[in-house]
Amino acid sequence: MRAGHDGPMSDAPSSAHVVRYTEADAAGRLHSEICLRNGPPLIAALAPWLSGASGAALEIGSGTGQHAAALSLAFPALALHASDPDETHRRSAGAWAQTLRVPPRPVFELDAARTWSDRPDISALGPLAAILAINVIHIAPAAVLAGIVRGAAARLGPSGLLIFYGPFRQEGIPLGPGNAAFDARLRESDPAWGLRAVGEIDALAAEGRLARGALIEMPAQNHLLIYRKAR
Ligand SMILES: C[S@@+](CC[C@H](N)C(=O)[O-])C[C@H]1O[C@@H](n2cnc3c(N)ncnc32)[C@H](O)[C@@H]1O
Repeated sequence: MRAGHDGPMSDAPSSAHVVRYTEADAAGRLHSEICLRNGPPLIAALAPWLSGASGAALEIGSGTGQHAAALSLAFPALALHASDPDETHRRSAGAWAQTLRVPPRPVFELDAARTWSDRPDISALGPLAAILAINVIHIAPAAVLAGIVRGAAARLGPSGLLIFYGPFRQEGIPLGPGNAAFDARLRESDPAWGLRAVGEIDALAAEGRLARGALIEMPAQNHLLIYRKAR
């Protein structure tokens, strides 16, 4: 783990979350069925937002790296960097990029709950066009959400996009039975995990001059939640 960044004393990722992917194959790739299922609708919903975007972008909590590779192919003007605190996940992201012939780019070791926006390797990317966190913030403590929003406020360029995908709570709308059960399972695994409220994210984002651009309904009770940095 990188030295010199503030945060917990332990070197363990702040969420201690390790997804139970299948074993890596001979090339180091991890495989996720959910990723494959989520990919096409995600790309279709992001197209109006990312098709015209160019420059560096960062995915936080890339997992297998299948989304990072697929999004890189779908939006080639974006130089999308994968990242994850877990070494096996980072190796997988690199292997998927190689398999799908995505231009080679560093995959960052990044724990979002630590201060990451002023790291030299991240700063060297310049102002970011987009930051994505797909299925991350509900399977991690609130400090991860706060760290992503703080980092996005610091690193996104003018009109840059902060994009969350996953299940959310919405004020005044009860959770559907699927998401309620999922939320209960998450909290049972770790009381610090659980579905985040859109209003809570809006408030954090506003502190960083990020305004909500869209809340888009996605399959299986998921949403895309998109914020835009002020110009
Ligand atoms: C459920 S997986 C989602 C992976 C991928 N984005 C996807 O949708 O398939 C959550 C990912 O977040 C990563 N993660 C956990 N804690 C994190 C943290 N503190 N900072 C950044 N990523 C974290 C995990 O290692 C894991 O790869």
